Amino acid sequence: MSELLKKLEEDLRNCQKCGLGKTRTNLVFGEGDSQADLMFIGEGPGKREDELGKPFVGVAGKLLDEMVESIDLTRKEVYIANVVKCRPPGNRDPLPDEVKACWPYLEQQLKEIKPKLIILLGRHSLERFLPGQKISQVHGQALRRDFPGIGRQVFFAAYHPAAALYQQSLKATLLEDFKRIPKILEKIKEESGLENKKEIEDLQEENKKEQIIKKKKQSKLFGE
Ligand code: SF4
Ligand code: URA
Repeated sequence: MSELLKKLEEDLRNCQKCGLGKTRTNLVFGEGDSQADLMFIGEGPGKREDELGKPFVGVAGKLLDEMVESIDLTRKEVYIANVVKCRPPGNRDPLPDEVKACWPYLEQQLKEIKPKLIILLGRHSLERFLPGQKISQVHGQALRRDFPGIGRQVFFAAYHPAAALYQQSLKATLLEDFKRIPKILEKIKEESGLENKKEIEDLQEENKKEQIIKKKKQSKLFGE
């Protein structure tokens, strides 16, 4: 894990910035590869996560592991976090104030990890990043947005694994949607490769121009 994330996690261990700080057992910072291409963002820790201080380790977590493995990855190779880092009592939805209070920490994680693709798990995570979108309409789709503080970013909306546990038909949908992730990621990499190439070409072009100007100046100096 990166030093910056380690330090942030230590700093947050006793966070009391919102009311959830009082009722949690353990803060659930997030875990995985700090250089991951894929970052999964859920809603908030549940009972098991609160007990263990790790994200997605309960029954929904098992299903998430299964989904991640279905695209030939393991949870160690991705990064997993939540919109709020402390468990809302009784698994209620996090309140807007709690989401707001916790946002700077998730923002720092995003800036450090710089994932190529963010998988938004469930409607709360979707609402935080792409307000007004309906999960039933956008699941399985990659959506590119300019996000304040983060910049241009590709998001992928998926049903929350817990929802798929309650409604069996959603599990098949989730699996189908996940199948699209590797191709989307490949495309993003190709595009950023092209952008880099273009940047290098532009730089080379500029260098050439500078060289020509320099030569001209030199020729003048020598009266040629
Ligand atoms: Fe701090 Fe976030 Fe926990 Fe609230 S939910 S106490 S802001 S870490
Ligand atoms: N559900 C979530 O949204 N996050 C977790 O970490 C576990 C369950």
